[in-house]
Amino acid sequence: MIEGQRADFVARFATEPHGFSMAPGRVNLIGEHTDYNDGFVLPMNVQRHTSVAFHPRGDGTVRAFSEHARQAVEFPLGDAPESLPAWARYVAYVAAALAEAGWPHGGADLHIRSDVPVGGGLSSSASLEAAVAGALLASAGRVPGRTLDQLLRDAGRTRTDLALLCQKAEHRVGALCGIMDQFVVLNGREGHALLIDCRRLRGKPVPLDGTQDLAVVVINSRVHHDLAANAYNERRRQCGEAVRVFAQHIAGVTALRDVAAWQWEEFRDRMDPLVARRAQHVVTENERTQIAVEALRAGDPVTVGRCMVASHESLRDLYEVSCRELDLLVEIARGVPGVYGSRMTGGGFGGCTVTLCRREAIEPLRQAVMREYPKATGLEPDVLVTGAAGPARVQWQAE
Ligand code: GLA
Repeated sequence: MIEGQRADFVARFATEPHGFSMAPGRVNLIGEHTDYNDGFVLPMNVQRHTSVAFHPRGDGTVRAFSEHARQAVEFPLGDAPESLPAWARYVAYVAAALAEAGWPHGGADLHIRSDVPVGGGLSSSASLEAAVAGALLASAGRVPGRTLDQLLRDAGRTRTDLALLCQKAEHRVGALCGIMDQFVVLNGREGHALLIDCRRLRGKPVPLDGTQDLAVVVINSRVHHDLAANAYNERRRQCGEAVRVFAQHIAGVTALRDVAAWQWEEFRDRMDPLVARRAQHVVTENERTQIAVEALRAGDPVTVGRCMVASHESLRDLYEVSCRELDLLVEIARGVPGVYGSRMTGGGFGGCTVTLCRREAIEPLRQAVMREYPKATGLEPDVLVTGAAGPARVQWQAE
């Protein structure tokens, strides 16, 4: 990836890039719509990346080119004009957030390449934000060879600080996302899923390779979720409404994270039935996530799979963020011998499913999906078998 990108950078900017800032996409195994409820999530990074080739500029300007959009933009650092195209707003808002928070940041020429499908539910935006942030930090330091961790240490910050900064940029674009995506993209570990406590902002790596036979298969429904931001923000509001009711009856409740299933049962009648259903999903999903983590650690994929299926049903029926195509992909996967579990992953209304299965089930799963899904939907699914990739990093040219 990098060699070809180097040549394209030179062709565009007539100079050598100093390095590359790379960040993976992510898939969430379980714990959906729990992050903004202070709850638990279990994502992992996928083997798809955004790579930003960078060259520092001394004039405080950012010039960025996106291969995906086939577009170039230019703006002064720290100024984020609202007229920018969508992809460039991520770049500009990350730069602005760095400036506002007093981080070191420098003008730069940026060449953006990515094989994370855009709008495909694998957090292409968090991946872009983290990769751009790394490139701007590296451009500011102008000390070749510094790793991302060293650059952060120089600035007196952590990877989690950077995740919060990227989240701020995402909020400014429009989706009031939780912290899961940016956190795992910056803190995930190769070969591991990451159990994130979204209240304490701590991540615990959970090994995936303990069970040699386990495979994670991500299937892109090819349904895009353009309207999802509104529905997402609406779900957040509904969760807030539920919290207000529980807090009137239970001391110390500040988020749905603090509500146990039996408490939901006790107070569900005090709220609008729709709000109660949304809360039920979150409360039970938090429990399922913790059960799944224990099962994964204990080498019990059958229980993990059961939790995943229950998660999907809850997202479909209670939280109502699935769609016909995702339901169908899950149904097809569940019919394949050797599949432990399958569910929609990410915000919903399209994007991907994630399936946990035995290695020998990968081919039969691929065949079943290719046979049945296009026939029913007219869409070509994309099947990605992926290990858990490492976190965002900076690589210099000379290395
Ligand atoms: C999107 C958001 C995340 C998370 C998921 C749902 O991916 O960016 O913060 O809320 O939806 O779990």
